[in-house]
Amino acid sequence: MKLSVLVLLSLQLSHAFNLPYGNLRSSIFDRRPDNLARLGSRISSRCSESARPCRPLSMQTTQEKASKAINPIFGDTGGAILAVEKLSLSAGPRDILLDASFKAMQGDRIGVVGANGAGKSTLLSAIVRTRAWDSGEAVIKPETTVGYLIQTAVSGSKRSAWDEASSGMNKIMAAEERLLKAQEAVEREAMSERAANELASAQAEFEAVGGSSKDQKVARVLNGLGFQREDHNKSCTEFSGGWQMRIALARLLLSEPDLLLLDEPTNHLDMSAKQWLVSYLKEYKGTIMVVTHETSLLDGIACNTILEVRDKRLHVFKCSHSKFLLERQARVDAAAKAYEAQQREIEKLQSYIDRFGAKASKASSAQSRKKQLEKMEVIDAPESLQTGRRPKLVLPEPPKCRMEMVVMKDAEIGWSEEKPLYRDLSLSITRGMRVVILGPNGCGKSTLLWALAGRLPLIKGSRTTTDGLSLGLFTQDLAQELDPSSTALDVVMETVQEVDPSINTEKARAAMGALGLTGEKSLQQIGTLSGGEKARVALSMFVLVPHNLLLLDEPSNHLDIPTIDALTEALRDYEGTVAVVTHNRAFCDRFNPTHVAFVRGDGQVSFEERPVRESDWEEVARAESAMAEGMAAEAAAAAAVDKEAKRAAYEANKKRGNAPKRIEKIEKEVGKLEQKIAQIDADMVAKGSNVEALYELQSKRDSLQGDLDKLYAEWEELETILS
Ligand SMILES: Nc1ncnc2c1ncn2[C@@H]1O[C@H](COP(=O)(O)OP(=O)(O)OP(=O)(O)O)[C@@H](O)[C@H]1O
Ligand SMILES: [Mg+2]
Repeated sequence: MKLSVLVLLSLQLSHAFNLPYGNLRSSIFDRRPDNLARLGSRISSRCSESARPCRPLSMQTTQEKASKAINPIFGDTGGAILAVEKLSLSAGPRDILLDASFKAMQGDRIGVVGANGAGKSTLLSAIVRTRAWDSGEAVIKPETTVGYLIQTAVSGSKRSAWDEASSGMNKIMAAEERLLKAQEAVEREAMSERAANELASAQAEFEAVGGSSKDQKVARVLNGLGFQREDHNKSCTEFSGGWQMRIALARLLLSEPDLLLLDEPTNHLDMSAKQWLVSYLKEYKGTIMVVTHETSLLDGIACNTILEVRDKRLHVFKCSHSKFLLERQARVDAAAKAYEAQQREIEKLQSYIDRFGAKASKASSAQSRKKQLEKMEVIDAPESLQTGRRPKLVLPEPPKCRMEMVVMKDAEIGWSEEKPLYRDLSLSITRGMRVVILGPNGCGKSTLLWALAGRLPLIKGSRTTTDGLSLGLFTQDLAQELDPSSTALDVVMETVQEVDPSINTEKARAAMGALGLTGEKSLQQIGTLSGGEKARVALSMFVLVPHNLLLLDEPSNHLDIPTIDALTEALRDYEGTVAVVTHNRAFCDRFNPTHVAFVRGDGQVSFEERPVRESDWEEVARAESAMAEGMAAEAAAAAAVDKEAKRAAYEANKKRGNAPKRIEKIEKEVGKLEQKIAQIDADMVAKGSNVEALYELQSKRDSLQGDLDKLYAEWEELETILS
């Protein structure tokens, strides 16, 4: 295979494995089998998404831990949960947001929207004060619990997924601790009425906070977010970045904060997990503020307020998202009209000044017009009238190559030899195909893409590629992990020059600029770019280097709608070959595939030349809900078993606590019974040959001896428990 273009993947793998950039083009494949073997051994064997490349946390330099310490200010909010008043924020010399004001009331559903880099994430981080303000304030009502999910969250924990997800259930954990202490007190002071009352009250609190259904809650959230039962006990470090984000999200949801701040929570979720999240948030009792580019999320949770971050201002719309779109259009139209009217006025004044400024007879009126012009508060051109602001992506013409681009024969594919995801898979990608890879959550779509890309060695079978193949791979996870300390331009230049040294800075800047990374933005450190800006950096490499086969894994995540539109348009006009994994239906419709690869849960792939049908989406939804139901039932059964075990443990504990008192009591009763039996023995001797009396005494003695034996047995059991 000619290693003509590795661009993105080369760069991304070099970060993933801390490889030096130099000579990547010639060296990456020499190293690949080892790297991938290492990679594979760390990865779950069960599904594609959790089988995404996963690295030890120490190397995840650009992703931040989900639970970065938040430090919000609590104070007088005038009854609101959150009050933001004239808040201004900047980054270095640049203003990000000016005079932002709004209030969130209990139960509000607030959607935060705006272009990539507009300042949405900055606003959220300012509210929880992981970022400083310049002026103004954001105050939260006292006693409010706040939960915050950052855009590039990873769990960062070494605990199991289950333990980490449940670790934020503070109310339940506090009630559990109280209950335990109360039980211990009852065991210590068996006769204490105070201890008994505390136990009853602790038990009631435990029930009230949902303590007895804790396990079901955790199982429900983990299952909803796509975790399988065997994942529950795996360490968080075994999961890829995207899955660690799901763990962070699970933990946050389970902590049930009063104010839930979510920054693009659906970025790493597949269709079913997204749907689940929407239905979960819809029922959520607290206040939600969510940054998202997903209309289905904004509509699904029935947002009653939309905050649009545009042109450094926060525009507040007290309405649903669909009304917002209409109202925004009306405001934009009005702004455009005002702008155009002012421009006409400026032109008129200017032309008068130009024509008559020098004429003595008109000089004073020209002067007054000049003053008028100087005093005028000039309206900025509204976005709709600004040309060149929409991101533009033109994919270069694909280099020529033969028809059969990648051919896989009888392939066995997976991350472990014991549990391959595919067996006997034969598939060929030929020139001109536009393939969409669909399938339910966890069936192995990304794994298939990695195998097609040659990044995951086959367990069995063969993969052949044609001469002249120039393959580009884009995965959004890796786009987020570009070297944070380099500037955007340096990253792009280093990568593209590996492939084509003739690409100069001007060309790179032009490509980046067309994607909105203009001027100083291209010189900014990657670590300070927004999520969508990082994805645009990765995309600009695609624009600079010609590929004839593009493999894309969920490319629309992090991108705002205009950039997704630019990407779909570019792909539509692209004459090369494309295979894309996506759960974005609108993207899929516009991509207009020629072939559908439908991956089923059992590793079967149907590969057909046809458009995507409604029934495909229905099948994905059906398969995912069947999987979710199965998992939920399994989890409920496991939780029931767990509950029974807990009840038995509770009983045993109780018995143990009471044992010393009970032993004391038994010993007293034994003494009494032994005395009675001794008395009967004496009476029997005294009765001599009175058979009838002897019978009666013997039967009394037998009954007492029976009681005594029972007490001995209980005493023995209690002594064993205590020993
Ligand atoms: N230290 C910095 N220097 C210069 N600019 C910065 C710095 N930190 C952040 N920015 C800029 O602030 C802007 C706002 O970033 P933010 O992450 O809030 O955007 P966003 O609206 O969340 O975008 P996205 O949709 O891509 O996530 C971005 O253009 C970003 O590049
Ligand atoms: Mg953001």
